[in-house]
Amino acid sequence: MPQPIRIAPSILAADFAKLGEEVRAVTEAGADYIHIDVMDGHFVPNLTIGPDVVKALRPHSKAVFDVHLMISPVDPYIDEFVAAGANIISFHPEAGAHAHRTVQMIKEAGIKAGIALNPATPIEAIDYLIDDLDLILVMSVNPGFGGQSFIESQLAKIAALRQRINDSGRDIDLEVDGGINFDTAPKAIAAGADVLVAGTATFKGGPSAYADNIARIRGGT
Ligand code: DX5
Ligand code: ZN
Repeated sequence: MPQPIRIAPSILAADFAKLGEEVRAVTEAGADYIHIDVMDGHFVPNLTIGPDVVKALRPHSKAVFDVHLMISPVDPYIDEFVAAGANIISFHPEAGAHAHRTVQMIKEAGIKAGIALNPATPIEAIDYLIDDLDLILVMSVNPGFGGQSFIESQLAKIAALRQRINDSGRDIDLEVDGGINFDTAPKAIAAGADVLVAGTATFKGGPSAYADNIARIRGGT
């Protein structure tokens, strides 16, 4: 069954000159997860941050560090992100030839494992993996950049995955990432998502707006 709605601000939309303060501010404003987008300029056409930045941010928040790897290869970097303080690592199955092995490596490192599905990736990508997954991330934009528009076709994918997760009887987070705002968040929740990534919509208006933004994305206000 869906778990309580959790909000995961993507720090891609934060002020990078004040990243520690920004992480502290969204945590105080009610963020459940801190979503950290790692891009390598190879798997996706953008470069962002690596494990040293994750490590530097770790003392600034007790929230779950939700590390979204958009890198290829994945396996050589898992231990470094775990040591830096990641609580969940998600990766894209297209990033390597052996998704099952990657899931096992993340689990063996003692943290939660997630798989991220691009807009055109079918849900069958989770077949034979679901028993070991802790999170399924539905990309509602093509990965690489913040500030893109929500792709509505992903609502049907979220609904189908909600069914699969319920059938599994396991507590697997169903996370949606990309273009989440006050209009699209309720649609994603209605389709069955229970973790919402929000970069632009969280950080809009600066620190004094974060608590209100997060509450409105979560809904009920
Ligand atoms: C895109 C990233 C997203 C992105 C979301 O590749 O995975 O996490 O930062 O940004 P918004 O919420 O601005 O669409
Ligand atoms: Zn992301």
